[in-house]
Amino acid sequence: MQVQEMPEIRVQRVGQSRINEVDWDNLIFGRHYSDHMFVADYRDGQWTDLRIVPYEKISVYPALIAFHYGQEIFEGLKAYRTVDGKVAIFRPDKNIKRMNNSARRMAMPEFPFDWFMEAMKKLVSIDKDWVPAGDDVALYIRPFMIATDEYVGVRPSDTYKLFIITSPVGPYYAKPLNVKVERKYVRAFPGGTGYAKAAGNYGGAMMPTALAKEEGFDQLLWTDGIHHEYIEESGTMNVFFIINGTVVTPPLTGTILPGVTRDSIITLCKDMGIPVEERQITVRELFEAYEKGILEDAFGSGTAVTIHHIVSITDILPNGERRTIELPSPEKREVSNKLKEVLEGIKRRKYPDRHGWLVYVD
Ligand code: COI
Repeated sequence: MQVQEMPEIRVQRVGQSRINEVDWDNLIFGRHYSDHMFVADYRDGQWTDLRIVPYEKISVYPALIAFHYGQEIFEGLKAYRTVDGKVAIFRPDKNIKRMNNSARRMAMPEFPFDWFMEAMKKLVSIDKDWVPAGDDVALYIRPFMIATDEYVGVRPSDTYKLFIITSPVGPYYAKPLNVKVERKYVRAFPGGTGYAKAAGNYGGAMMPTALAKEEGFDQLLWTDGIHHEYIEESGTMNVFFIINGTVVTPPLTGTILPGVTRDSIITLCKDMGIPVEERQITVRELFEAYEKGILEDAFGSGTAVTIHHIVSITDILPNGERRTIELPSPEKREVSNKLKEVLEGIKRRKYPDRHGWLVYVD
């Protein structure tokens, strides 16, 4: 790990803000980017030239390693406007650590924790007018790192760029989800990159997801690569089920993303005295619980989606037989609605932040 002192972050501000181009009453996920971005360069074994500059096009060579071999990682976290008008980032420490875990898996350099925190706080502070106030809105923060050597041989790059861009966002999905159990394609395999936020994990999921959409589903429920029976995650979300009063979610065995929202939900369940288990769940168990009438809820969690309900789960067996679980309508899901209210309330300081999850900007 680098023991270099943190260089000063140089700041170049925009001449003219684009903030008035945004329809603040209709924030669409990923449509607008705020005025500034953070950039740092890695060369000769160290990070250098830390800067906050206007958000703009970047110029790179076509032979960039990131383009050819997917040496690229990213993160997703959010800054919120609290009810008393402050700006706070939710659990950035978790995302910084996860980004550095992803970096190790992808043979990329880590970015020092304190520098990362400082860069994010400074960037959000400069663009704090872009942090929307309200229940379903936030400033999405997207750090990402690309391998920048101009070289088409297969080896880790010697140079990298780290960017942090931000985007005012509304809800990720417009409606509750109908998901299909995926029994053919695989998102991640033991020993692979499933736990890392590597760009290629998401690219590889696009074709199977598009096929499911053609069949009328909104997302896939990924299963393990060996048996296609153990539930892993869904789209961009970790998944939770409530079976006979117990909240159950698949364990972190290396093939699923260690979600920050996932961790927060588990913690809140413990705080609220709701039984919670991290354990393997099979498709068979879900259908058996449904038949017995004890499958009470299914929902996804993630920074982008927060807590999002699943309304149906369909499994199409290899012989073409099709079976579907229909879940209760979202407004009847007392436990997950309460978890969402508390989690979203903590982020905006409507509820006390007992775990010190908020990092204030300024
Ligand atoms: C997030 O929840 O931040 C994600 O990573 C989802 C993203 C791929 C849109």
